[in-house]
Amino acid sequence: MKVTPWEVEGKINYDRLIKEFGTKPLTEKLLKRLEDIVGELHPLLKRGIFFSHRDFDWILDEYKKGNRFYLYTGRGPSGHTHLGHLIPWILTKWLQDKFDAELWFQLTDDEKFLFSQKLELEEANKYAYENALDVIALGFDPDKTFIFTDIDYAGELYPQAVKVAKKITFSTAKAVFGFKNESNVGQIFYTSMQAVPAFLPSVKKGKNIPCLIPLAIDQDPHFRVARDVLPKLGYYKPAILHSKFLPGLGEEGKMSASQPQTCIFTTDKPDEVKKKIWNAFTGGGGSLKEQREKGGKPDICPIYQYYYYLFEEDDEKVKEIYTSCKSGARTCGECKKELIKRINSFLEKHQEKREKARKHLGEFVLKD
Ligand code: TYM
Repeated sequence: MKVTPWEVEGKINYDRLIKEFGTKPLTEKLLKRLEDIVGELHPLLKRGIFFSHRDFDWILDEYKKGNRFYLYTGRGPSGHTHLGHLIPWILTKWLQDKFDAELWFQLTDDEKFLFSQKLELEEANKYAYENALDVIALGFDPDKTFIFTDIDYAGELYPQAVKVAKKITFSTAKAVFGFKNESNVGQIFYTSMQAVPAFLPSVKKGKNIPCLIPLAIDQDPHFRVARDVLPKLGYYKPAILHSKFLPGLGEEGKMSASQPQTCIFTTDKPDEVKKKIWNAFTGGGGSLKEQREKGGKPDICPIYQYYYYLFEEDDEKVKEIYTSCKSGARTCGECKKELIKRINSFLEKHQEKREKARKHLGEFVLKD
């Protein structure tokens, strides 16, 4: 297994990641505290898709004391958004609604340029605003949501980034991110940019404000560094909620744009979705007869996981999909057909909202 901000490979062992990354499991007790405050739990929390955290208990303590937090998350715009990216953003939207919190959303066009062999800076910047449409389409509050690209908001970000950079040695960057002598110097500096939105609102408002960052666990290393540095600059350490990865449609690995055939983009047409799902790996038997006799294996099946992560909100129904697959009553064909319908119905609405969002970009975007 390999999990870095730029590569996720192999079969992911999430318990091992908690140990290796030094995070804490998101326990029932902690979730209950959250539920007591907001009255319910999002399925992504109830189902353990968000599974780990840093200082989430502290965020709730501060909230109880009247010290409210803001949210921060982001996207590296190397192409169109895929369904996996939506996981942290959906929870972020729920948290914005429940806590009436601001969201600061960073689009790292600089990062994607520095880490890609092919992508030009201008292309990454263009994708940033395409990705922003997906964020807006999820329904974030325009009065409380600030979206910016590193390049177009550099005037605000850069003076803070150099303060972070001065506190990070090359040997720390190398140890955390595995840089080599051949790595370009922009890559080595980059983590300083990702740290800035974790305290920028505190700078702007002239007082320390707690920050909560929902993300998938691949992005945690950046904030391990930021959490060391920020107290040295006089700011709180940001708190984090970590999610698991929505799998790709292949046998192993997370949904990733680098494998477009096993990845569903929010811009995909109904026919593309249909084709990708029909070609997907499943936990089914070799033949229909075998599957009816022996049952399927939902635990290793990406199709089942899509219901579990995003496309079946009802806990009882998701259980039923699981048990009927295991018993052989539900076939892969039926399961795929239904999923195609659900994904396409979601995408149809999402794409409509995405197009409408073009007119509203100005209400969300910060530029120098
Ligand atoms: P990026 O563009 O790789 O990913 C955007 C967000 O999506 C999460 N993610 C996934 N979540 C679930 N299932 C998947 N298959 C999946 N693939 C990606 C990522 O963890 C991330 O939360 N450097 C960052 C951009 C960034 C950022 C941030 C992310 C800047 N500031 C603050 C999180 C928080 C990047 O390239 O993300």
